Amino acid sequence: MARIGLGHDLHRLEPGGGLVLGGVTIPHDRRAVGHSDADVLLHAVTDALLGAAGLGDIGELFPDTDPANRGRDSAGMLAEAARRLAAAGWRIVNLDCVIFAQRPKILPHRTAIRRRIAGILHVDEEAVWLKAKTGEGVGPVGAEEAIAAECVVLIERSDRDE
Ligand code: CDP
Ligand code: ZN
Repeated sequence: MARIGLGHDLHRLEPGGGLVLGGVTIPHDRRAVGHSDADVLLHAVTDALLGAAGLGDIGELFPDTDPANRGRDSAGMLAEAARRLAAAGWRIVNLDCVIFAQRPKILPHRTAIRRRIAGILHVDEEAVWLKAKTGEGVGPVGAEEAIAAECVVLIERSDRDE
């Protein structure tokens, strides 16, 4: 049996350095605002995984009302979601992601981001793909007021051969 999941996230941008995307810090003159480290891509990946397995969502697992989650490392939250998926008998087949950002160019960082996500999830780099789109200069993404990300994931039963 296989199931798919979809994750979406958006964060406000403000002036400042250090845009964290997919667990990789990208040099930029804006940064994402959020309760945690505001890694919009890892949040979308986490929600896609949790949705595929029917295990809740990132806000349920890590409520932003809990002071323990302030400044929390998004890689740690994703790793915990992946651990719960595995414990529930699921294996990740592949994921495909899109970052919506007017700037900076994401393509030069694609390999590093894919490698980092694959490392957190313990899957082959080949199972993680990433694309990026601008906002064509319109809307909150185009005006560089926001950055967004989406992810779809396919999972299958890890005990399928038994
Ligand atoms: O050409 P089209 O309007 O479909 O796409 P775009 O949003 O203008 O982006 C063109 C290409 O730039 C994308 O296909 C990506 O390869 C790249 N891109 C990127 O690397 N980083 C971004 N933040 C946005 C786009
Ligand atoms: Zn987020």
